Amino acid sequence: MTSKVDIFIGSIIHWNSEADQIEYIEQAAITVQDGRITELSSNATHISHLQSTQSNSITLLSSAQFLIPGLIDAHIHAPQYPNLGLGVDLPLLKWLDKYIFALERKFEDLIFAKHVYTKVVDKMIAHGTTTACYFGTIHTDSCLLLADIVQSKGQRALVGKVNMTVNCPQDYGETLQESLEETERFVAEMKKKNYSMVQPIITPRFAVTCEMATLQGLAQIASKHNLPIQTHLSENSDEIATVLKMNPGCRTYTEVYERAGLLTKKTILAHSIHLSDDELASIQQHSASIVHCPTSNCFLQSGVCDTVKTMYRGVNIALGTDMGAGYSPSILEVMRRAVDVSSVLTSCRKKEEKAKSSSDIQNQDEAEKMSSGTKLRPPLNFERAFQFATMGGATALNLADKVGNFSVGKQFDALLINLDAVNSPVDFTAHLNVQEKFVKFFFTGDDRI
Ligand code: GUN
Ligand code: FE
Repeated sequence: MTSKVDIFIGSIIHWNSEADQIEYIEQAAITVQDGRITELSSNATHISHLQSTQSNSITLLSSAQFLIPGLIDAHIHAPQYPNLGLGVDLPLLKWLDKYIFALERKFEDLIFAKHVYTKVVDKMIAHGTTTACYFGTIHTDSCLLLADIVQSKGQRALVGKVNMTVNCPQDYGETLQESLEETERFVAEMKKKNYSMVQPIITPRFAVTCEMATLQGLAQIASKHNLPIQTHLSENSDEIATVLKMNPGCRTYTEVYERAGLLTKKTILAHSIHLSDDELASIQQHSASIVHCPTSNCFLQSGVCDTVKTMYRGVNIALGTDMGAGYSPSILEVMRRAVDVSSVLTSCRKKEEKAKSSSDIQNQDEAEKMSSGTKLRPPLNFERAFQFATMGGATALNLADKVGNFSVGKQFDALLINLDAVNSPVDFTAHLNVQEKFVKFFFTGDDRI
């Protein structure tokens, strides 16, 4: 028996990887069979007159609606949800001590974990995150519970049991042996479940709470089971100083992970703000990805990641809410903030360049010309931020053959965006073209349906 065919007709917007640009298709038709895209037509007029039959169903989108690929949150701490918005007065290491470790310790209690994790996953799905990469806590059983909840709610995810063996509070940490044994148990239990949508990811918290032996042991487990790896890199200056002090043989923070064997093409590095050119080159050579978390970086005053430079160095970029340092469960909000911080960074650079050239050159007109003709690249634009949240995330999580855009053969993993959520009697967007509708959604959209 052949399975039913679903056809969606209307506007679609996605990232075309071959052309390396966003694609707006006003009158598209997507054909879906068994959850997979079997055809993408950019001229739907010839099929729009078809009627639904027993073997196919046709969904006609209104002019206020369009489809985009499901959004991807490549860095989120599921247990931190209860403390969202707390600790804006503190830098990273103090914030972890005061607000985070004490909260994460509570996830030893599976009932508490179940309540929080159910809420978090529901929230993320409501905000359009169909794929997420989660940090759990050090507790194997509550991480397994998180995986169960994610799978039961139909979200695609990577779930990591956190490892931390040094510089931990008395009541929230592991020995090296416990950490490695529990990680092996986590991986074995996840394999037994044989989930269709959820997989394990090796998760050393960061090099402040994992000494070299832990990092190396985890790299071996990742290599043995061919698993992805996630961690934090170069988020804050005190963090970097601590890591370099702990690893006196390494010149840079990135080198610590490289020496441990943690840099692979399946590695994702959250934040990666304060990197030297050599560090970026090393990340690029290993084909690892970075996860840009601008809401979190603003909240903890960690600094600004130069996404434009990172991108031009050939490093793949994904986006992360980094909840609870990030204050919003919405990747759409993160996309906007990515554009904002890049714009501010470029303005500051321009100002600096101008000041430099005017102190070098007496003639003001000459200085003006120099600064406007500077080699500064334009800031991140909204279309590229959308690429980070879709194909960038899919690439980082090694899911680019399944999700990220509407290429034939991929899963039909889509969001139906409706600019007229309140069903008003007049369509206020009728005069807009599809690109204008998308930009309106980008800057003003939210989770209301
Ligand atoms: N670095 C190590 N742990 C964390 C965490 O939980 N959140 C953030 N933002 N950075 C970290
Ligand atoms: Fe984080």
